[in-house]
Amino acid sequence: MNIGREKILIIDSTTEKHFKKAIIEQEILAEHDVQLVHISHVNELPLTLLSEVNYLIIWACVPAVSFDKAFLSSLKNCRTIVKAAVGYDNIDISAARELGISVLNIPDYGTEEVADHALALMLGIARKLEEINLHVKQGGWDWASVKKLYRLRGRKLGIIGFGRIGGAVARRAAMFGLNVQFYDPNAVSGLDKTHGVVRCESLKTLLATSDIISVNASLNPSSYHLLSHAEFDIMKKGVLLVNTARGGIIDSEALFSAIKSGKVAAAGLDVLENEPNIPDCFRQLDNVLLTAHSAFYTEESFLEMRTKSAELVQQKMNGLHVRNCVNENAGEQSVRY
Ligand code: GLV
Repeated sequence: MNIGREKILIIDSTTEKHFKKAIIEQEILAEHDVQLVHISHVNELPLTLLSEVNYLIIWACVPAVSFDKAFLSSLKNCRTIVKAAVGYDNIDISAARELGISVLNIPDYGTEEVADHALALMLGIARKLEEINLHVKQGGWDWASVKKLYRLRGRKLGIIGFGRIGGAVARRAAMFGLNVQFYDPNAVSGLDKTHGVVRCESLKTLLATSDIISVNASLNPSSYHLLSHAEFDIMKKGVLLVNTARGGIIDSEALFSAIKSGKVAAAGLDVLENEPNIPDCFRQLDNVLLTAHSAFYTEESFLEMRTKSAELVQQKMNGLHVRNCVNENAGEQSVRY
């Protein structure tokens, strides 16, 4: 196929500025016009620029920026958006579909990192690392200061959302002797057999029987506030909770009350609602281990994310079939996680 010079716009956030130059993308898309911009709101992008863009790459960590129908409508010549991330909850994918724009994601660039991070948070709260670290740094040396700890082996880990990351969490957790179960209405039959784990047919069963819960679902209308007051009520007293997916899946007010009441003994949270302006109350709790949406990150995952995004654009330009279109049946996406 004879391809002319195409315009590729890469959007990064102003607040985080992950990279200053698009060197990796320019190398892969050498024949084309690759431009990088840093924004904190889509209104900062001139309409003339948007109407010229043929391909858009949106960087993983532009969570605060929402790509709505009005924005998508100004992409007069763009047929493909690559969300260089697993999650695409800040893009109106149905509107994109109506406008004839395919949205592709990069679902696998950080599978290892997020699964490692989920286990790190799980171990951190189970072993009370935050508390003992503070104790030692403040001059103490008393192992009993973190009483009581409980053995992991034999305890039940419930994973909500059993995609690539959920499966990778299960693999790692099995090495610690945890008995793994999952809930995911969209997981294909037999995935429990592939991974040697137990499938829960209802969220209620998973919540009522798990000692540790790991959230690994994607955020969409059906998973927004999936865990709220009623769901915390069902959980075992003293449950440990880890979220490395999206803050919006857990109602933060309900979580805060559940921690205060002791229903949730400790939480490991990489994501929270309204980040980076997270509810301040969580910062005051010793039994909450917080990380700054950093689960996805290693130098290797960054490189993979950027390389794969640029390669996807290249493949689309060459008219090749590409995987990972998330809005082929946009109307059906709302039930998927
Ligand atoms: C990170 O949060 C991602 O969605 O890739």
